[in-house]
Amino acid sequence: MKLIAYLIFPALMLLGAATAASANLFPDGNPQTGEKIFAQYNCNRCHNQIMGGDGNKIFTRIDRKRNSPEGLIQQIGMCSANVNAHFTPQETQDLAAYLNIFYKFK
Ligand code: HEC
Repeated sequence: MKLIAYLIFPALMLLGAATAASANLFPDGNPQTGEKIFAQYNCNRCHNQIMGGDGNKIFTRIDRKRNSPEGLIQQIGMCSANVNAHFTPQETQDLAAYLNIFYKFK
């Protein structure tokens, strides 16, 4: 009986890790931290104007510019210049993890 538990537990843990990884495309990023950075730099300042109110809609509009995780990372890099920021790879991952709440890349 004990032997079975020894076999099943690691298997379940591996399964859990795989599920968690596929559920979050940016596993190194923390969406809560990303949201704080986004607010701190007032990232939606221009997006609000472009979208005529709710800047977050820029991420979900039908003709949005970015449709891949790589594209999202690139855009964060481009827009960082808009706020005179030099985000670290960690901050970029945090922002991507937050923005993926809208993009829903899997
Ligand atoms: C000075 C204005 C400005 C600021 C500030 C700004 N952006 Fe942008 N952002 C833009 C413009 C312009 C676009 C492109 C809109 C278009 O082409 O239709 C854009 C587009 C984006 C997109 C892509 C949307 C899509 O269509 O898929 C992302 C992601 C993004 N910005 C992230 C950020 C982040 C993160 C910050 C803060 C670090 C930020 N932006 C700050 C002007 C700005």
